[in-house]
Amino acid sequence: MQKIIAANWKMYKTRPEARETAADLYRLLIAEPLSDRRVIVFPSFTNIPDVQEAFAGESTVTVGAQNFYPAAEGPFTGEISLDMLLDLGISQVLTGHSERRHLLGETDDFVASKTALALAGGFSVMLCIGETLAEREAGNLAEVLSSQLRTALPELQGDALSRLTVAYEPIWAIGTGKVAGPAEVLAAHAEVRSLVARIVGDAGRGIPILYGGSVKPGNASMLLGLDNVDGLLVGGASLDVQSFLQIIKA
Ligand code: 13P
Repeated sequence: MQKIIAANWKMYKTRPEARETAADLYRLLIAEPLSDRRVIVFPSFTNIPDVQEAFAGESTVTVGAQNFYPAAEGPFTGEISLDMLLDLGISQVLTGHSERRHLLGETDDFVASKTALALAGGFSVMLCIGETLAEREAGNLAEVLSSQLRTALPELQGDALSRLTVAYEPIWAIGTGKVAGPAEVLAAHAEVRSLVARIVGDAGRGIPILYGGSVKPGNASMLLGLDNVDGLLVGGASLDVQSFLQIIKA
């Protein structure tokens, strides 16, 4: 199965920087095509056209959007709709990222409405879930994952399911340099796999589950070798072409 390696550039890179990073990555990927990897890059809104242009014609790379507002249109100053993303040729979005949940106040219900609207609109959605350190230490991992998944994935069927990816990102491992250990990742991914199958039925078994949180060139291969790890969602280490390329090739 093709592994998915996704880059979340968060609020990093000016236009010239994004253009240069994407062009360098394109050149290196063309030089050594990898048939067992699919790459997704989530740049900031303002960098989307430049990054798309850099990857034009490269079918193994998808450019996605980090965010959107769950309404068709309206008085939502500063927000961007799914139709506006479609205008740009974007059909892949991220929902539920912990930075949006915890720094920008998105609740489980809000994440659910975004996920449902994007899937109904034909978008591919990468839904992020994950626990805080306090939740983990209190023994609430399964409960947190279950509640985040149950709220976000009610009654999904066939076509929508085929466009869903789940990214497990333990919040205590994001940007901290603390990667979850193999046993922790194995256990969490097995839990996510079984929760998804319980919520959406057997078809849920085919939904890719990505790991995210301090992924680096040095741990990518170990993580990709674990059961139920179908890819990686990379923050900091995706900003540098060489380190991201090493992760893609891991
Ligand atoms: P880091 O790889 O920088 O820990 O970020 C992970 C992340 O939040 C990806 O969405």
